[in-house]
Amino acid sequence: ISLLSRNTFGIDQKCAELWVYQNVADATQVALDDKLRSMPYLLVGGGSNLLLTRDFPGIVITPEKRFDVKVERESADDVVIRCWAGTTFDDVVAYAVEQGWYGMENLSLIPGECGASAVQNIGAYGAEAKDILVDVEAVELATGKHVVIKAEDCNYSYRQSRFKHEWKDKYVILTVSYRLSKTFTPDLDYGNIRAELERCGIDAATLTAHQLRQVIVDIRRAKLPDPEVMGNAGSFFMNPVVDEATFERLKAEHSDLRYFEMGEGRYKIPAGWMIDQCGWKGKSLGRAGVHDKQALVLVNRGGAKGEDVVALMHAVQASVRERFGLELHPEVNVI
Ligand code: EPU
Repeated sequence: ISLLSRNTFGIDQKCAELWVYQNVADATQVALDDKLRSMPYLLVGGGSNLLLTRDFPGIVITPEKRFDVKVERESADDVVIRCWAGTTFDDVVAYAVEQGWYGMENLSLIPGECGASAVQNIGAYGAEAKDILVDVEAVELATGKHVVIKAEDCNYSYRQSRFKHEWKDKYVILTVSYRLSKTFTPDLDYGNIRAELERCGIDAATLTAHQLRQVIVDIRRAKLPDPEVMGNAGSFFMNPVVDEATFERLKAEHSDLRYFEMGEGRYKIPAGWMIDQCGWKGKSLGRAGVHDKQALVLVNRGGAKGEDVVALMHAVQASVRERFGLELHPEVNVI
């Protein structure tokens, strides 16, 4: 079965079986199926964080794609919504803004589905999924047990969670719930948001959530390639987080160093900036390339194989290691 339409990198690889679950009964059946014990399996959502380098000789398990959002609790101040794992995340952002439920605006246009938002702790423009996540409903694959996992138990940090480590491949996610506020308190502190508002002639004092969403969408569209047009998986690498001593070394060696202070003596160094400094922006290696508007994004220039992208990944990692002495780790799941 071809996975071409199931990965945004546009890589043409196959899997042996594709299992699409629609509800808790399906997910339980998946868990209890003996094939799961004899074949490898891969949990996939929107495929926007996936690089396939070969055919997958096993079962791809994925939630049905459908918009399914229900209000679970509501008070005068906030609302908790429960979203089916296979709901496109950005559709939820659009819906929430329309309903007057706030807190997701800065996460506008992030590709992928709600299930992955809880695995990956997606984030952009100063916001992260963990800020709004309440819990994750799932089926444990080893036992078929139906569980609800509180967000506090998921150990969320920058692009990390227990689902990526000790819980890797452990759960099939059914739904994710988010708490949203009925009061709009825009977070405009990241990077160029304020400058962009000014450029659009929008006064921060009268800003609406709808306008903020539109500004974020415009910023993203200007930098990030549309996977429908050019295959990609968003940021290919995570931004390395370094300690004080490493930060001081980098600052001494590179007077123009870009960084985000994370507190507690930790600093995030933008990988895109480092890759750009190494001269990779807009360059290609075979059919894989470094995006010309955001060097953190590797792209399929047409007909790339997973190996082409991996070769480029290694070349970029080597450049950054040599120039900055830092190791770049892929954010994308390389299979
Ligand atoms: N920069 C360059 N050249 C480049 C790219 C970036 O000089 O080619 C500089 C920018 O000028 C800026 C800094 O590096 O000073 C950071 O760039 P940007 O604001 O674009 O953010 P990023 O750190 O590269 C992260 C996320 C993005 C998210 C943006 C905005 C990761 C791995 N990526 O990128 O997430 O949209 O911040 O919040 O943390 C994704 O995960 O797929 C993704 C797109």
